[in-house]
Amino acid sequence: PAPGWAIDADVVVVGSGVAGLTTALRCAAAGLDTVVVTKARLDDGSTRWAQGGIAAALGEGDTPEQHLADTLVAGAGLCDEEAVRTLVTEGPDAVRRLITTGAHFDTTDSGDIALTREGGHHRRRIAHAGGDATGAEISRALVEAVRAAALRIIENALVLDLLTDAEGRTAGVSLHVMGEGQHDGVGAVRAPSVVLATGGMGQVFSATTNPSVSTGDGVALALRAGAEVSDLEFVQFHPTVLFLGADSEGQQPLVSEAVRGEGAHLVDASGTRFMLGQHELAELAPRDIVAKAITRRMHEHGTEHMYLDARHFGAAMWEQRFPTILAACRAHGIDPVTEPVPVAPAAHYASGGIRTDLRGRTTVPGLYACGEVACTGVHGANRLASNSLLEGLVFAERIAADIAETRPPRTEPAEAASEGGDDPVALIAPETRTAIQRIMTRGAGVLRSAASLATAAEELEALHRSAAADADDPDPKLAVPGVDTWEVTNLLLVSRVLVAAAREREETRGCHWREDRPGRDDEHWRRHLVVRIAPDRT
Ligand code: SIN
Repeated sequence: PAPGWAIDADVVVVGSGVAGLTTALRCAAAGLDTVVVTKARLDDGSTRWAQGGIAAALGEGDTPEQHLADTLVAGAGLCDEEAVRTLVTEGPDAVRRLITTGAHFDTTDSGDIALTREGGHHRRRIAHAGGDATGAEISRALVEAVRAAALRIIENALVLDLLTDAEGRTAGVSLHVMGEGQHDGVGAVRAPSVVLATGGMGQVFSATTNPSVSTGDGVALALRAGAEVSDLEFVQFHPTVLFLGADSEGQQPLVSEAVRGEGAHLVDASGTRFMLGQHELAELAPRDIVAKAITRRMHEHGTEHMYLDARHFGAAMWEQRFPTILAACRAHGIDPVTEPVPVAPAAHYASGGIRTDLRGRTTVPGLYACGEVACTGVHGANRLASNSLLEGLVFAERIAADIAETRPPRTEPAEAASEGGDDPVALIAPETRTAIQRIMTRGAGVLRSAASLATAAEELEALHRSAAADADDPDPKLAVPGVDTWEVTNLLLVSRVLVAAAREREETRGCHWREDRPGRDDEHWRRHLVVRIAPDRT
């Protein structure tokens, strides 16, 4: 659709998690005219749900080098070492600057930052806030800082497409805004620098820890704009998500790895600790290994979940250290103080995303990506626990520095990907959301095979074909533009690309688990799958 209104800026930041708000704050501080657009309210999105914390070498005896080593092991041979080095070296100061911005972390009796452990970390390295409400505190601090800063905010704004100038350089974004006064309906923010910080795509699966807004909008936009996307097959399934029944769909409550970091045990129905002997770190093995072990045990026992047993913490520790998780469990009729908690893996994090360099630049000039939506190379085939908030912080600062240094001039948009061309984007009906999620869960979930992926691909293509046929129909039945429709359109596009990558990678590595290809094949597959779709071919 053609924009009905337009505003101008130096930078538009899309998304309001740790990555987006940190980028916006640093851009505004550098004197850049900055606009933040976000799909719901400023504090919606994944950051607020983060529990365990933020990893950085802050503890006595810890070093960035040790953090690097743990990150590379978790990443299963696919991390970009230079990117990881950047993350772990710049991480500690970035956390200190976050504290200066206003975030309060839990401290020890002597006033140092309290640190916990999570899967894959050989040391206590995870800073946390409010016990298990780290993301909520970071979000609070950043939202307050952004509201106090000299920048413009547009909420309830779903970004549709990248605008480019005649030379293919970024010139802004088109967006669909609901109920925001002067900026209502389809409009545009024209800016020579666009930072996508739109978060993940957990909603492609039926059960996920991600909020309902995580629909892969940034990756879909980037694909339509012809940017390179990489590593989409590496979807991380969090091992311990509260099991609410096999039919429970949508966002599920997380039971943080930090619970295991403080000594909880994974047990089966007979009370046996099945992680012992599987890995030197037992319950604190990297996340992919724990998720696989749980899934295997579930299959062996023919059950839908395992248990996390932390009764030995006692009521006082549960209340003080994990108040959010305790409340969520109790709200669902489970008391972790007196009974083991039923848990099963659920989709949690996209390790891949829009490919960037170390300055957050994508392959489209002027377009940046930051946070979960990006693939900077720090996560490889499996993100190390609590590296995600850190990645958002560190690369946000790098992106702001790059834009402040280059200060590209404003240019005139030519046309958006969904506006022109012979092959308009086929819109998908909102009711299709559940069908997509079920196809993805059955075919491309924690355990995949050539056959399950082929079925998923076929079913997704059928949905796409039917929408495309409808788009060609002079009297279309499905294509009613609106936020729900755009979200589901994005879900279908990213699902198709994800499944194609998962089919192509004929090995098991990190969080990509192929039961028909159980081994890691370094000879053929120690490489990235990079996808780029020509605009108008989505
Ligand atoms: C958790 O608290 O277990 C989540 C941490 C993460 O995803 O990094």
